[in-house]
Amino acid sequence: MARRIAVVGSNMTDLVTSIIRMPAPGETLEAPSFFMGFGGKGANQAVAAARLGADVMMLTKVGDDVFGQSTIKNLKDNGVDISHVGIVAGKSSGVAPIFVDESGENSILIIKGANNELKPADIDAAAEDLKGCDLILMQLEVPLETVYHTIAFADRHGIETILNPAPAAPDLDAKQVVKATFLVPNETELALLTGMPTGTDAEIEKAARSLIDKGIRTVIVTLGSRGARLITASSSTLIEPLKVKPKDTTGAGDAFIGSFARYYVESRELEPSLKKAALYAADSITREGTQKSYATAEEFDGFVARLQQ
Ligand code: RIB
Ligand code: NA
Repeated sequence: MARRIAVVGSNMTDLVTSIIRMPAPGETLEAPSFFMGFGGKGANQAVAAARLGADVMMLTKVGDDVFGQSTIKNLKDNGVDISHVGIVAGKSSGVAPIFVDESGENSILIIKGANNELKPADIDAAAEDLKGCDLILMQLEVPLETVYHTIAFADRHGIETILNPAPAAPDLDAKQVVKATFLVPNETELALLTGMPTGTDAEIEKAARSLIDKGIRTVIVTLGSRGARLITASSSTLIEPLKVKPKDTTGAGDAFIGSFARYYVESRELEPSLKKAALYAADSITREGTQKSYATAEEFDGFVARLQQ
């Protein structure tokens, strides 16, 4: 049987405006263009893995509005199992107003809405199906108590977990986090979690090691255009980035994690899976949008083949 991935996380509708600059307070400024897309860190990671052919189930909550309906349809269209997607009456779905400047850099506001209603009881309700999964992915756009509950559940049942502690949460409890199998923070999230500086490679490694000392097996620090660093008790390896001309970097981290999960769950090999994930994320930033910039398995094979020419 194919290996199965569960994502316990958020969904958002991305409201993407391209800007020349942000307006100042009190100023009205015209922006060149707008589009709507599917986003949310949880859904992004689920869709990246599913587009690459993984068997993915998602636990998430939408509101009873048009965004919720189209989010459910989008997950289904991408082959994600939606049997544990809930609709919350009287709540808005998650939305993310995103501003992308001419260099491809983004600023994001998130309104979590129904995502705040994904509770530990929802994890228990899906327990039987979760036990059939080989890997569980989590981020921090749903309540922390749900994340902790899921990590503990997975730990009891011997299921590997990936925690992407994003967006940065000041009250995240390091003692809970280190029970995950993999932690995938960026430099800012790592600094916040450890209370240590992460300005240089040496500092990043020291901070990651402090978490390994507390019990986590593997830390993968995403470094944006500088790639990623894989740190285990016995090794530290740079995953080289692929240099591309960025068009829209929104959701590149999610592309990286979702694709890593897909390759890792099949091979259980860290470095080769991370190398493929770095290419997948690089490819996604050459196109506009979040999920809509994620390649299918066939498109990604084509991209890799062209690199090798
Ligand atoms: O990681 C990118 C995502 O963050 C966007 O899709 C947006 O929805 C926010 O959740
Ligand atoms: Na993109």
